[in-house]
Amino acid sequence: MSRLGASSLQEPPPEPLGARRLTMEPPPQYPGAMVNVTNHCNLACAHCFVFREGNPNDSDGEMKPERLLAELERLRDRHGIRRMMWMGGEPMLRWRLVEQGLALFEKNTITTNGTVVFKDFGPDVTYVVSLDGPRDVNDPVRGEGVFDRVMQNVAALPDDFQSMVMAQCVLHRENQHRLEDLVRELLPTKFRGLTFSFYVPRAGEVSPRAWADVEEREAAIDIVFDLKRRYPGFIWNSSRSLELLRPATAKIVTDHCPMQKTMLPLYIEGNDFTTPYCCYGNDVDCDRCGSWGVFAAAAKISGPWDALQT
Ligand SMILES: C[S@@+](CC[C@H](N)C(=O)[O-])C[C@H]1O[C@@H](n2cnc3c(N)ncnc32)[C@H](O)[C@@H]1O
Ligand code: SF4
Ligand code: SF4
Repeated sequence: MSRLGASSLQEPPPEPLGARRLTMEPPPQYPGAMVNVTNHCNLACAHCFVFREGNPNDSDGEMKPERLLAELERLRDRHGIRRMMWMGGEPMLRWRLVEQGLALFEKNTITTNGTVVFKDFGPDVTYVVSLDGPRDVNDPVRGEGVFDRVMQNVAALPDDFQSMVMAQCVLHRENQHRLEDLVRELLPTKFRGLTFSFYVPRAGEVSPRAWADVEEREAAIDIVFDLKRRYPGFIWNSSRSLELLRPATAKIVTDHCPMQKTMLPLYIEGNDFTTPYCCYGNDVDCDRCGSWGVFAAAAKISGPWDALQT
């Protein structure tokens, strides 16, 4: 679903950052935000929503660190933001900026491709490291040699490294049958756990990666449930969030997307931030969205999906 094509059931997108400045209404409050601190990336992953056409992703002349941090502070105060998800592009290409920005927020998560050396930012910071399968599945998506580089970087973490390191796998139609191989690779390492986020396709996308609909996607949910049963404690998707991904409830959740109200997406556009339709950009298919963040949030709150869950 695109920003212009939102259905009437869909929550309205976040307002442009300056839209309310001329009114007396209080600015909307967002407990969390995600920020792309750079549009530069050292990888070019085939599935990446950031670099899709129509999203703010130009890496020329992007905001200098001082302005970016000052804007984050202003937006924090304006919108009551307490939790920040640091993203990009690759956020660790600007790790000094990220390090400075951590102090602005109560809780910080850094989503990284894991190819840049990790910095110990202390016990209150979580690294979410992206890996999309075992080597022969991950590397065709994320780049040749990337799997080994990430595993080497994680293996090289000192024993007293304090920041928490977990993995996130974007689950799609092409890797769904190889997830156990990834789990087995990660289990003996310093990764503390793994979440699966189901692929978010473009509006109208027909590709080997995208399930045709949520009915076709259901087999992948059962695969994750099976892994949860066999590797207890390591797969962190909650059972309720997985149940909500099933066809009976998925569309109710995405029609009332909890992230739209709780997470302010901040993309860089030149010397300013801009808010696209949602964290996944502008040209998304909400009906097939399986974002971990959406379903994890829905699982924690009551919503119209409660009435339909079996
Ligand atoms: C856009 S990346 C930015 C941070 C960093 N460069 C990385 O790869 O982790 C943030 C997360 O979004 C995931 N992602 C990219 N495209 C996606 C898509 N179409 N659907 C769901 N997740 C996606 C990535 O795999 C990664 O875990
Ligand atoms: S590393 Fe992250 S931002 Fe870069 S292309 Fe891959 S998913 Fe996108
Ligand atoms: S997070 Fe998913 S459901 Fe929510 S608006 Fe974006 S694509 Fe749609």
